[in-house]
Amino acid sequence: AEYDLVVRGGEVATGFGTTRCDIGIKGGRIVALAENLADGAQVLEAGGLLVLPGGIDSHCHIEEPSRGGYVGTAGDVPVTVNEESFVTASTSAFAGGTTSVVCFVPQWKGEGILPRIADYEQRAAKGMLDYSFHQIITDPTEDVLQREVPQIVAKGIRSLKVFLTYEPLHLSDEEYLKVLVTARKNGCLVTVHCENYAAIKWRTEALLAAGLTAPKYHAWSRPPVVEREATHRAIALAELVDQPIQVFHVSCAEAAEEIARAQHRGLKVWGETCPQYLTLTAADMDRPGFGGAAFMCSPSPRTTEEHARVWEMIRRGTLDVVTSDHCGFSMGGEDGKAVSGRDAPFRDIPNGIPGLAARLPILFSEGVSKGRITLDEFVRLTATNPARLMGLAPRKGMIAVGADADLALWDPKKQVTLTNALMQHAIDYTPYEGMQVTGWPVATVRRGAVVMRDGKVQAEPGTGQFLARGPYDYIRPRGVLENGFDAAPMP
Ligand code: URP
Ligand code: ZN
Ligand code: ZN
Ligand code: ZN
Repeated sequence: AEYDLVVRGGEVATGFGTTRCDIGIKGGRIVALAENLADGAQVLEAGGLLVLPGGIDSHCHIEEPSRGGYVGTAGDVPVTVNEESFVTASTSAFAGGTTSVVCFVPQWKGEGILPRIADYEQRAAKGMLDYSFHQIITDPTEDVLQREVPQIVAKGIRSLKVFLTYEPLHLSDEEYLKVLVTARKNGCLVTVHCENYAAIKWRTEALLAAGLTAPKYHAWSRPPVVEREATHRAIALAELVDQPIQVFHVSCAEAAEEIARAQHRGLKVWGETCPQYLTLTAADMDRPGFGGAAFMCSPSPRTTEEHARVWEMIRRGTLDVVTSDHCGFSMGGEDGKAVSGRDAPFRDIPNGIPGLAARLPILFSEGVSKGRITLDEFVRLTATNPARLMGLAPRKGMIAVGADADLALWDPKKQVTLTNALMQHAIDYTPYEGMQVTGWPVATVRRGAVVMRDGKVQAEPGTGQFLARGPYDYIRPRGVLENGFDAAPMP
């Protein structure tokens, strides 16, 4: 046959409206978009369905070694590996219509980055998802910046991730500046977790001293102002260096407004948000005992009023990428949320929630089905924009001739009640249990292989491909320099 696979008769979402046509796939790529294509070796009937580009989730923590998860405490916490493996994450992603991820290689203070990367490359290669890496920098020594970063860039890793909070991870302004300079010299994007470390530490100590230790006080320890301040500072220092950045997981309008102001000044600053900042609230953490830990992530979920404001910042285009920030810790067992015990103060409970499979259904249902965004906006937020910003386009993120055949066949009318079983991940709960959604993926195609059908995932472990990234226009510095003096010259 001329094609390995033909997807027949769907409403194909191009990002510029939908068009009813067939998709001809050969060698893992889209080779034809036309009406009435000849049959392929395999045919997938898509009548009555939307055909979307497979989701790109550019912020996922998978099989990530960490010290007690993302917590506020320093010290000698034992090393554990995030229980979501690349195999379980791939299964979960395919169940939810996602086909590629960008995940994180850790660095710990006192260590270089190259030793971890070798280990992580081996882990990632065992999955079925296509993947790329962000390199976390927590200890920007001269050796890391001068010798190691150029080596990871040569491997095709084009984003450095920094934290402005978390006890064991945060950078000082001086260290953050050094990372910005290194990124500029090497042609990398910098992605930033924006919350003020000292402010959270001070609030946390005051709360704990007052005996306010329950999970709900997590939100009290980090109100929007700490996020707004760090967002402003992250942008200002990036402007000084002339280095493009993406602000991760924006939870509130006042942080998003800092991004909007920067964009209006012409800076290369982008903002990401996540479904939890459109659906969960601080009140979810207010339950008896340990239960609130299930909703604990950073920045904290806010209020329903804030959800409306975040939607508005999505509609304006200020926030142009929606990822899951999937970072699952089970509620049961000893290595998950309860790593410091079920009576632990909020400070010692790992931050993060699972959401890889729920991302597309929630955004589609809350966004497209409820009329808040268009289908085109959905496609851009979940696939096209993350692919472009991460340097994966045009191979990923759109349905076009020559692109990888990564597709989600979507039933826009199907009503589903979210359950943990439907997530098909390794975590023992979903924070979205019981949520009603309209719209659901009924099949997922990764590079031409049908990897999910009616919820059944079938893919061979080890078939995921590493997506090496070269230099790309999106993250090229603007070349706008104070006094014309280039303090961080590119080679
Ligand atoms: O709470 C969160 N978001 N945990 C994952 C790590 C991070 O900050 O992105
Ligand atoms: Zn973060
Ligand atoms: Zn400001
Ligand atoms: Zn994260």
